[in-house]
Amino acid sequence: MSSQQLTINFDRLADITQLPLPLQELLAAARKATADAYAPYSNFYVATAARVGEHIVTTTNQENASFPVGLCAERTLLSVLTTQYAHAPVEAIALSYHNRRAHADSHAPISPCGLCRQSLLEFEQRMGRPIPILMSGMTGEIIMLHAIKDLLPFSFSSHQLK
Ligand code: THU
Repeated sequence: MSSQQLTINFDRLADITQLPLPLQELLAAARKATADAYAPYSNFYVATAARVGEHIVTTTNQENASFPVGLCAERTLLSVLTTQYAHAPVEAIALSYHNRRAHADSHAPISPCGLCRQSLLEFEQRMGRPIPILMSGMTGEIIMLHAIKDLLPFSFSSHQLK
């Protein structure tokens, strides 16, 4: 037996002003887009923003009365990127959320669910280069990973299908 360790590098930033300007703009767009989420069942309004060249693409979670039909903001983002911006390099992705449940706050950074991690990972592999991901709430701390792959160690991927 050998015990091993995995190390994941990430940055913690106290607030949005600590980011370089293009990333500030990206995160601000994600925070603003939370208002466009369709989340009447959970009241948990999630948004993503991706920087694609000159463009910032934002998307939100889209719920449904049949709960499992709902889509997370991250997977709506991937649908838009892979169709409307096919093959364009994505420079960074930012996530935010506004928890509108009673007495809730929206300060702690959000991180993508397991299903979305799997989807995001394959998207990064298709892009062929690391995509930084910023995780945050409406205010306060930001956690920035330099690659999506760091969100999902021991992942399943196409290599295992060979
Ligand atoms: N949700 C996202 O959109 N992204 C995440 O990373 C976590 C959860 C959505 C799904 C559902 O609409 C609501 O947040 C509550 O789980």
